[in-house]
Amino acid sequence: MAVIEKLKIGVIFGGRSGEHEVSLMSARSILAALNPEKYTITQIGITHEGAWLVGDGVLEAFEKNTWKSLYSGAMFPDPTRRGIYMVQSRDKGELLEFISDLDVIFPVLHGTFGEDGTIQGFLELLSVAYVGAGVLGSALGMDKAVFKDVMRAVGVPVVESITVNRREIQENLDGVLSHGESFAPYPLFVKPVNLGSSVGITKCHNRSDLLEGIMDAARYDRRILIERGVEAREIEVSVLGNDDPKASIPGEIIPADEFYSYEAKYYNDRSQLLIPAPISDETVKKIQSIAIKAYMAVDCAGMARADFLLDKVTNEVYLNEINTIPGFTRISMYPKLWDASGLSYPELVDRLVELALERKRERDQNEYRYSR
Ligand SMILES: Nc1ncnc2c1ncn2[C@@H]1O[C@H](COP(=O)(O)OP(=O)(O)O)[C@@H](O)[C@H]1O
Ligand SMILES: [Mg+2]
Repeated sequence: MAVIEKLKIGVIFGGRSGEHEVSLMSARSILAALNPEKYTITQIGITHEGAWLVGDGVLEAFEKNTWKSLYSGAMFPDPTRRGIYMVQSRDKGELLEFISDLDVIFPVLHGTFGEDGTIQGFLELLSVAYVGAGVLGSALGMDKAVFKDVMRAVGVPVVESITVNRREIQENLDGVLSHGESFAPYPLFVKPVNLGSSVGITKCHNRSDLLEGIMDAARYDRRILIERGVEAREIEVSVLGNDDPKASIPGEIIPADEFYSYEAKYYNDRSQLLIPAPISDETVKKIQSIAIKAYMAVDCAGMARADFLLDKVTNEVYLNEINTIPGFTRISMYPKLWDASGLSYPELVDRLVELALERKRERDQNEYRYSR
């Protein structure tokens, strides 16, 4: 009987962002879906502090806060030493113990240091295949301000917004408030440029809300976005692929709060997902084509969820953001939209692994050295 080499997959979860716990939940579902007959899996957990840990049952240890079975793990930004190492071996005989080579890394890390291009940069140095967008797509997906500028440049509709920085707020608060009030009427949304999960976001109905919102957002980021608030339905669509991406059927979020706040996302079980979104075929097509256009424009790969605002009054469609490592539990929107579009959760995970390998092969065609 021919022995088929199993693909070696490293799944990285946890991380330093506020979405550490969400990442553990996503990783739980992904690990359960990776077929052990096809893959050898190495779990790599990153603590809130940023420590990389390996060993037996890493995810369970993270979930239960029991660290005894875990060892410090290390990877080198060095393609000649690709793989995962234990910094101290079990018998303390060696400084480094090689654990496994890795063919594909699945970074299941949401938010800062996971979804923003930083770990992607590290994986590029390592020259390993990994799931999801590269450095640029990840960074642009994370930066709500530059993302909107790029969308405007390629003709994707986004809401009007201005960006202010902390220094302007500290030196000329009145000027910032007046500027915020001058470009659009209330309600206004204030957001830190680089964050997720609605942390630091305020819907402002008047000047005192705006002041409070700006001060709050400035705790989290040096740059603050002030946006025109739209009375909107929230429609999301999943995109999958590399050079020829496809969009799923759209879904709708019915937030249990005045907007889709942190509370409404994770604590209020009255927030609902409607799949498919009850919208016209014409709007479905529009949303799908905008999602793909945006995906290509920021050079995404693998996957992204594109989130839209559909104006309840004018029916105008605006792209709000893309998430390059969207929530990935069994009940998360990204995989559920694919499931409803005919691609089951395990098939989706397999496809993402294939796309990671495909993207790596594509990149390997680049010559990095110039020879005459
Ligand atoms: N311009 C806007 N108009 C209306 N609602 C908005 C606007 N911007 C954000 N929201 C609401 O705030 C939520 C979070 O904002 P979003 O930009 O998606 O940030 P995050 O990355 O934290 O999800 C959205 O899901 C939506 O409910
Ligand atoms: Mg969002």
